[in-house]
Amino acid sequence: MFDTMTTTKIIGGLCSTFLVFLLGAWLAEEIYHSGGHYGEQAYVIEVEGAEGEEVEVVEEVPFSVVYASASAADGEALWRGCRSCHALESGQHGTGPALYGVVNRPVQFYDDFNYSGALAEATDVWTPEELNAFLENPRGYAPGTAMSYNGMRAVEDRANLIAYLATIGG
Ligand code: HEC
Repeated sequence: MFDTMTTTKIIGGLCSTFLVFLLGAWLAEEIYHSGGHYGEQAYVIEVEGAEGEEVEVVEEVPFSVVYASASAADGEALWRGCRSCHALESGQHGTGPALYGVVNRPVQFYDDFNYSGALAEATDVWTPEELNAFLENPRGYAPGTAMSYNGMRAVEDRANLIAYLATIGG
């Protein structure tokens, strides 16, 4: 009888110790698990969200703001996308007309270049804003234009390139 009670007490004590231990382990696991889980999720959202939003924000910044801090030096490197058809020297035409002083120049400036006529339908003067719209999507801006160039996607690139063109003969 005495022995049985002692044994029961010992077993009972061990069991409750074990229960407390189990509970503790479960809690620890739960805290660790949810902690790790939240951490992981926050990381993924941060990366994907930041990248996605960045692109949109970049597109939403008005051209005038981007142009105000544009880099002509960076734009010079982008000129290589135009030089196969355009020269910068006044009156030197290739597939496209010379772009000497093109920023704020009247549209279809040269009488000796055979323009399509589509550009004059779109604007009168190549202000930085008009050039920006044209270079983003030439055929969308001036349907029927003879300039077969697909467009420059990033507003920073267009701003830098226009800033560079503004240093040539302007
Ligand atoms: C595949 C040849 C080609 C490429 C590449 C090209 N252009 Fe043109 N560009 C033309 C042609 C052709 C015209 C005349 C379009 C017309 O008359 O419709 C033109 C016209 C223009 C005009 C209007 C000039 C004026 O006198 O009214 C501007 C500005 C211009 N291009 C800028 C650029 C810039 C900047 C790039 C590089 C990002 C570029 N082009 C790339 C062929 C090209």
